[in-house]
Amino acid sequence: RSSHHHHHHGEFDIPTTENLYFQSGIRRKCPNVLNDPVNVRINCIPEQFPTEGICAQRGCCWRPWNDSLIPWCFFVDNHGYNVQDMTTTSIGVEAKLNRIPSPTLFGNDINSVLFTTQNQTPNRFRFKITDPNNRRYEVPHQYVKEFTGPTVSDTLYDVKVAQNPFSIQVIRKSNGKTLFDTSIGPLVYSDQYLQISARLPSDYIYGIGEQVHKRFRHDLSWKTWPIFTRDQLPGDNNNNLYGHQTFFMCIEDTSGKSFGVFLMNSNAMEIFIQPTPIVTYRVTGGILDFYILLGDTPEQVVQQYQQLVGLPAMPAYWNLGFQLSRWNYKSLDVVKEVVRRNREAGIPFDTQVTDIDYMEDKKDFTYDQVAFNGLPQFVQDLHDHGQKYVIILDPAISIGRRANGTTYATYERGNTQHVWINESDGSTPIIGEVWPGLTVYPDFTNPNCIDWWANECSIFHQEVQYDGLWIDMNEVSSFIQGSTKGCNVNKLNYPPFTPDILDKLMYSKTICMDAVQNWGKQYDVHSLYGYSMAIATEQAVQKVFPNKRSFILTRSTFAGSGRHAAHWLGDNTASWEQMEWSITGMLEFSLFGIPLVGADICGFVAETTEELCRRWMQLGAFYPFSRNHNSDGYEHQDPAFFGQNSLLVKSSRQYLTIRYTLLPFLYTLFYKAHVFGETVARPVLHEFYEDTNSWIEDTEFLWGPALLITPVLKQGADTVSAYIPDAIWYDYESGAKRPWRKQRVDMYLPADKIGLHLRGGYIIPIQEPDVTTTASRKNPLGLIVALGENNTAKGDFFWDDGETKDTIQNGNYILYTFSVSNNTLDIVCTHSSYQEGTTLAFQTVKILGLTDSVTEVRVAENNQPMNAHSNFTYDASNQVLLIADLKLNLGRNFSVQW
Ligand code: GLC
Repeated sequence: RSSHHHHHHGEFDIPTTENLYFQSGIRRKCPNVLNDPVNVRINCIPEQFPTEGICAQRGCCWRPWNDSLIPWCFFVDNHGYNVQDMTTTSIGVEAKLNRIPSPTLFGNDINSVLFTTQNQTPNRFRFKITDPNNRRYEVPHQYVKEFTGPTVSDTLYDVKVAQNPFSIQVIRKSNGKTLFDTSIGPLVYSDQYLQISARLPSDYIYGIGEQVHKRFRHDLSWKTWPIFTRDQLPGDNNNNLYGHQTFFMCIEDTSGKSFGVFLMNSNAMEIFIQPTPIVTYRVTGGILDFYILLGDTPEQVVQQYQQLVGLPAMPAYWNLGFQLSRWNYKSLDVVKEVVRRNREAGIPFDTQVTDIDYMEDKKDFTYDQVAFNGLPQFVQDLHDHGQKYVIILDPAISIGRRANGTTYATYERGNTQHVWINESDGSTPIIGEVWPGLTVYPDFTNPNCIDWWANECSIFHQEVQYDGLWIDMNEVSSFIQGSTKGCNVNKLNYPPFTPDILDKLMYSKTICMDAVQNWGKQYDVHSLYGYSMAIATEQAVQKVFPNKRSFILTRSTFAGSGRHAAHWLGDNTASWEQMEWSITGMLEFSLFGIPLVGADICGFVAETTEELCRRWMQLGAFYPFSRNHNSDGYEHQDPAFFGQNSLLVKSSRQYLTIRYTLLPFLYTLFYKAHVFGETVARPVLHEFYEDTNSWIEDTEFLWGPALLITPVLKQGADTVSAYIPDAIWYDYESGAKRPWRKQRVDMYLPADKIGLHLRGGYIIPIQEPDVTTTASRKNPLGLIVALGENNTAKGDFFWDDGETKDTIQNGNYILYTFSVSNNTLDIVCTHSSYQEGTTLAFQTVKILGLTDSVTEVRVAENNQPMNAHSNFTYDASNQVLLIADLKLNLGRNFSVQW
């Protein structure tokens, strides 16, 4: 055994003495009042109003300040652990950490913990702190599994471990920059309270959720972000919302170098961010299990994160179509009228959704035989029009009888198979209350439960031929605190430290923390409910639609949920600011690996207005997941409701039609998300990291690298002050080159316009639009070439049947790469194993930014001689060449020259 003894900052090498306040280091002794670096204070009383008495009890330093954001009581060097016996393993190091004798914060400190590191890949480092004597909760994740090697030697990072007290530093080898440095604060490791802090090298931090951050870049001024899944609508506050997301990304410099930090832990926690910046984790259980990911660019870091937690699902093509929904249509006749008027308005519209009002008394797997009489025939009509039908399912199962007095078969079958979450005794189903009244809760971590769920989905599908499932209320939500019996007084329901979660009560709006699931106690698995329900629903879909991708939309998410489901941002409000914040929300879920994401278009709660809804329809046409959804009790807000000839209908149709035109491009981006973890709705900073202006940009976003979307977000505005990143840009609609580059401009966007700009250097596959994807998928394809520097451009295209599972794994698809140089477009088919696709052809090629008039166009297949092609027009005013009538069938290679 060889041992490592890395020492870093000399100031921490001084051994700890018995003096609790004034020993060792320079930074972490109780400072004198004059040179007190307040920004690096690590709060010692995070859970309540600080007093000198509590501070003294905790052995921390008391220095009140004229600002209550800054901790008045903070840690000094007497807390933490010392390293004993550090040894190298085949993939990292291992050491025992011994607690420095000091006062406790929340009791039950673990005196000796095990620290292990793993150099997992050249880019990925993991460190883990566990209790070697008592197994603590670890997340049974689908993709993040125990790592066994192989050993990597050539890492981008160095790791240093300081011994007395223990701390870890992760350093980027290439430039010596310290990315993650825990010496800034103590390690606290007790049964129900784990704390670690890290100093970061840059003020530009993105991610962590689910909360409303308003701005994509994190505010560093002493912000607490609680994480614990909760049925809570987004608002102007720091509340913990539906998802549990512990990943953040940090950009280091204008070379693009970035890193990510992921804590694999499902327990309730808060992540505290303060200037310097320092991030502090305060976690109520499980283990500390960190992954540090190093990338050359922000996009690479996100790719690595997704490769770790599970690459996102490849959606069915129709999932990318527009969806209409609302809570409480009240009757099928109203739904039919909504479908009718939007068809009449020519709104591209793939999917009609119904909410809990289709059900009989809000019971899953039933439908209201009176108000929704004829539902199966209606679904048939949707299918006859090439449209789809999606239903909501809530996890909670009513324990009451059916309207006609008979027993509720779904509940009875679940009972027989013991599929519910139990009380602390492990055998009595816990009862809560949701939409249908008193309910039990399926334990989706129990394999029997998954079978039961899949069976129920299958039985109901025989009655109503839905195409996809929307799973809601899966935080898991209950309208009564804990259960009908309340909750026991114990350390799970009332832990010694409760993070800054809403109501400061663990079982608020959910079930008791001592309830028992197959994966563990609710205390540990609570935030995994939606994750496990999405996995169970994936299996149900597999049974109902063997070999089809279907559609799953989930409200509650965990790390890796994008592998199994799409997400919407929950119960937003019809307000201008919430529309603006939705962009940050969407971009954050791009980072979390859940690219099929969008907000309720036009707003859920509150009455929308024509203007807000029109602007939101324009923006929502470019959410990866595009759905207009409305709450109960508000006026309709589907586009056609505003009148067949309204500006709202005109503009919605215009931009949804553009969306449908661009679907081959969007679908190709999803292919790249699924295979490589690339983002779909992409932050501007991912493409333009060299320009620090992009680091704070969150009122516009990109589709992949190539389409810049600039919405109007302010009431009454027809001009947007927009930042145009450093590239050549073409107005999507006219094709004309913009005179703008790397500057802020006033973009004129009157009532019926959203800003759409194609980036020079990219080639985008398009398809003649239609009102459904079923129809549009049969239409002619085309290419838009946006010429870039040196008149070059590149692009690609993925195509398959749009719904069969695993086409990529099975090779049943067509893949193209495109490139332009020297006035020649090369269309190269790199994979062609989807025979049915070869009847489709690229019919048009539109070239933007051609300064000289064109007199001749020639086309060749493979490397055959070029033939003159007569059908082309050159628009000199916009400098656009349009070549038509090409008939370049998929599966072959072509060149087009001008
Ligand atoms: C929840 C959902 C919302 C849905 C409602 C009724 O609030 O978030 O989308 O409309 O429940 O099912």
